[in-house]
Amino acid sequence: MHTYGRLDVAFVKGEGAWLVDDKGNRFLDALSGIGVVALGHADPAVAKAIATQASTLIHTSNLYRIPAQEKLAAQLAEISGMDNMFFGNSGAEANECAIKISRLYGKQKGIDNPTIIVTEASFHGRTLATLTATGSRKVQAGFEPLVNGFVRAPYNDVEAIRQIAKNNNTIVAIMLEPVEGEGGIQVPDDDYLAELRKVCDENDWFLVLDEVQTGNGRTGSFFSYQQSGILPDIVTTAKGLANGFPIGVCLARGKAAEVFKPGNHGSTFGGNPLACTVASTVVEEIQRRNLPARAKEVGERMLNTFRERLSALNNVKDIRGKGLMIGIELDASCGDLVGKAMERGLLINVTVDKVVRLLPPLIISDEEADQICDIVCELIEGS
Ligand SMILES: Cc1ncc(COP(=O)(O)O)c(C=O)c1O
Repeated sequence: MHTYGRLDVAFVKGEGAWLVDDKGNRFLDALSGIGVVALGHADPAVAKAIATQASTLIHTSNLYRIPAQEKLAAQLAEISGMDNMFFGNSGAEANECAIKISRLYGKQKGIDNPTIIVTEASFHGRTLATLTATGSRKVQAGFEPLVNGFVRAPYNDVEAIRQIAKNNNTIVAIMLEPVEGEGGIQVPDDDYLAELRKVCDENDWFLVLDEVQTGNGRTGSFFSYQQSGILPDIVTTAKGLANGFPIGVCLARGKAAEVFKPGNHGSTFGGNPLACTVASTVVEEIQRRNLPARAKEVGERMLNTFRERLSALNNVKDIRGKGLMIGIELDASCGDLVGKAMERGLLINVTVDKVVRLLPPLIISDEEADQICDIVCELIEGS
């Protein structure tokens, strides 16, 4: 179906940060399939994990124990500080799970209409509940009636959340991204998550972090919240977790980890031996190769270059980022830069119409990072 405005290019193979199209042209990939291929294309460890597991066992059912799922759960629990987790197949599904846990927790506390606070400019997915949670009318338009039980607050505004706490006794959770990705790489104040943690503790709400885009090393730590010195009650991850093999996980801690009982939630494919084996390998590789630290280092290098070269330009409103999530906000629509970059052999993205968004693989070299910066700077200088 015609759900995407597709560009007329067909990639047929990849290697590291590079893609090759059906005419043999090479492109430097500064988008990673929208923040997915953290280890780059055709990573040998991932390819081997897929091949070996595919010829051993692909799928059984969650009706039985799945050792590969247990292994991945143990790895993720150790990294994240979470206790239990549910395995699905996408970011939206992981968030649906978080929403269901929050609602059920509310019901268990006697709240008939449990409400979740969500933020402006957020993105949580395309299912009905997650598009309702998403802070974009464009994503919602036409799909009304939307799902009840969400209230919207400005992002990076703790006072607004405190006001809601005073006036609404049906709140059960606040769900947000540690850096808003689709919303234009919005980076909040350093103490934002810690302040939200306090409000949640004071009111017995769950702090639900959507790390679908920020997770798996991209912002400089395995999960972004690890830079804030707090633990959420629920965290979701997907995109980079299996380097392109579909998976989504909802991890929970403490009370949130105990809400579901058998029959409350499920997924046929979720957490199957193949998906979990691939994700286990990716997690091992991210850690073995120290990629969160590398994302921080190369991300800072790129941000510094952009700030040096672009800050003084009249058409540049802001340059921001965390690790390898980088946004350059211009003063006018700049969707045309995507095509212009492609003509120069570079894949970039524009989100919310005016923000050039870069999400390169975490394995890019300094030279590749400099190449991305050069082309992006020249395009913006010339626009
Ligand atoms: C923060 C965030 N949450 C959720 C999603 C939805 O993930 P999926 O497309 O895997 O359902 C995305 C996708 O862009 C995202 O960036």
